[in-house]
Amino acid sequence: MMKAIVLSHYGKTDSLSLVEKAIPQPKEGEVLVKVHATSVNDFDWQIMCGKPFITRLVSGILKPNIDVLGTEIAGTVESVGPGVSSFAVGDRVFGDVSDAGFGGFAEYASVSQTALHNMPDLMTFQQAVSLPHASLLAWQGLVDLGNIKQGESVLINGAGGGVGVFALHIAKEFGCEVTGVDHALKLDFMKGLGFDHVIDYQKTDFTAEATRYDLILDVKTQHFPTRYLNVLNEGGRHITCGGNTSSMIQIALLGHLIGKVTGKRLSVIMLQPNQGLEHINKMFESGTLKTHIDGPFSFEDIPREMARFGRGEHIGKIVINVV
Ligand SMILES: NC(=O)c1ccc[n+]([C@@H]2O[C@H](COP(=O)([O-])OP(=O)(O)OC[C@H]3O[C@@H](n4cnc5c(N)ncnc54)[C@H](OP(=O)(O)O)[C@@H]3O)[C@@H](O)[C@H]2O)c1
Repeated sequence: MMKAIVLSHYGKTDSLSLVEKAIPQPKEGEVLVKVHATSVNDFDWQIMCGKPFITRLVSGILKPNIDVLGTEIAGTVESVGPGVSSFAVGDRVFGDVSDAGFGGFAEYASVSQTALHNMPDLMTFQQAVSLPHASLLAWQGLVDLGNIKQGESVLINGAGGGVGVFALHIAKEFGCEVTGVDHALKLDFMKGLGFDHVIDYQKTDFTAEATRYDLILDVKTQHFPTRYLNVLNEGGRHITCGGNTSSMIQIALLGHLIGKVTGKRLSVIMLQPNQGLEHINKMFESGTLKTHIDGPFSFEDIPREMARFGRGEHIGKIVINVV
């Protein structure tokens, strides 16, 4: 048997309870991981709440079909199912398991081998579990979709959060001048990390300013698409990771057309879990990408830490020690 935090219905953190459950058995192509650390992510929060409603297209309309949340795991391979050749018992592995049924809020998770990577030698479980989701949103947004180029001017909106901080490290690898927008309370922290310019979103709407950028990575898209054109240079790109649902739908529907007419590109990123993790591992090993951990906390603290995440009180990634 194993300990697990189980989600019984959509709601607040009282929908989460600590139970004893049977340890899952790895099926064909699956790896059973003894979970040493997990983290709290917006996916976990949104599925727990069942909001925005669009989330329920994945997690079930009336009640959740995912009983153990936990988007990211880091741990050791306990056993492997038939057909698994890439991993062996005892390997240290990590990954974003949101495409593999979630399951990090438990002592063991059985997930597809395609959701796992080997951990670099010098990486701790706590560091590992803070990386795949947020760092790859930043990587895929800036590099794969944003086509970032050496020396460009980059703005990150929502820059003091999980994605924004990794985005800074990546943009700096490309020698870019980086502006970060976030709450006044985070601006000193952001300057200390290396942002060249910072903007308080409560005082200044960057879309109404004269400064233009080559590339904007936006985790808090709020406006109608055309507002972003004003602050993009010729050939500029605005990549949205998240924000309010109506702005994101407008960009998804109109972005392509706007791009054809203006030569500027507005796109919405769809995260491809774990794709590009080898680049993140390289940057971690060379010391150019650093993790920012809030915690680690104990397994029983998961409901409390989910609530703190929901109130936006975390700085960096909330990490939970599991076993
Ligand atoms: N596209 C995909 O496939 C995909 C997949 C997973 C997640 N996501 C999205 O990716 C994002 C995750 O970002 P994250 O982990 O970095 O979130 P986070 O850690 O919560 O950081 C967001 C930051 O933005 C700040 N902020 C709030 N309102 C703002 C505003 N109006 N203008 C500028 N900054 C503002 C927040 O500060 P305060 O709230 O403290 O003021 C916080 O520092 C979410 O939007 C999520 O929905 C997208």
